[in-house]
Amino acid sequence: MDLSVTIAGVRFPACMMNAAGALCVTREELEALGRSRSGAIVTKSMTVEPRQGNPEPRYYGFPGGSINSMGLPNLGYRAYAALIPELKKFGKPVVASVAGLCEDDFITIAEAINASAPDLIEVNLSCPNIPGKPQIGYDLEASERLMKRVRKVITVPMGVKLPPYFDPAHHEQTAKVIERVGVDFLSLINSVGNGLVVDPERETVVIKPKGGFGGLGGPLIKPVALANVRAFWKQFKGRLPIIGTGGVVSGSDIFEHLLCGATAVQVGTVLVEEGLGVFDRLQSELAALLDKKGYSSPAACIGKLKEL
Ligand code: SIN
Repeated sequence: MDLSVTIAGVRFPACMMNAAGALCVTREELEALGRSRSGAIVTKSMTVEPRQGNPEPRYYGFPGGSINSMGLPNLGYRAYAALIPELKKFGKPVVASVAGLCEDDFITIAEAINASAPDLIEVNLSCPNIPGKPQIGYDLEASERLMKRVRKVITVPMGVKLPPYFDPAHHEQTAKVIERVGVDFLSLINSVGNGLVVDPERETVVIKPKGGFGGLGGPLIKPVALANVRAFWKQFKGRLPIIGTGGVVSGSDIFEHLLCGATAVQVGTVLVEEGLGVFDRLQSELAALLDKKGYSSPAACIGKLKEL
């Protein structure tokens, strides 16, 4: 089955890809994504200067999911700007994830990265792991100001990666900001920030940064991700493409994201735990499920969730 989808006019050969952060920091990792069956190559969220990130251990996987506080380890935007034209040879979209430690950083990076012509740019407003820096996506005034400024320098399709929202009023207010800015797609959601996982045996936290607080990912956050996909799909009445991220470990999880309104999904925890072969497995599982249910393509089931 053809699992390709189109987002903001860009064709993705398959409707699943890595999430920014998962196996996508170095040239080697990005090229490996290019050779894999990932539907796109998404870069690690980049900052102005290269960063080592937070002290280790900073990732911990457990049966229900994962917790991380990576702290944006990345090569710095100049390295990614040089790499992006080379990554085009893999014949799939290159998505540049842009972050920053202050508002001006985002503009500097967005302008330079836009010039290197990625297929899309995802602006990360939701990293929960930089000590002393709150997630911008929870400050709607700051988010709007920042998005309006990056919008002016980005000419390729521009998306924003948002943190999870937990109240309908926040979905509504955020949607209004996104509408005013003129965003081309949404990535929902980043990890559920500032969770805490405890090891009762050792009586310790499991990661070192921020006293053990970190972003939760994997199966335990799927309901939160699905709720955000659904809420924003309704806010925009299906007009704004959504990339669903959170809790995808099987073809059935992708199907749930599609039903809620996602056009494609990103995978983080399962990619880190299982490696690049996960894309082959997810594609077989999704194709078999769609076929069994009589859907001819991923696009055919987007937003089709029934309410009781
Ligand atoms: C990190 O590098 O800490 C994760 C990035 C993110 O959650 O945006």
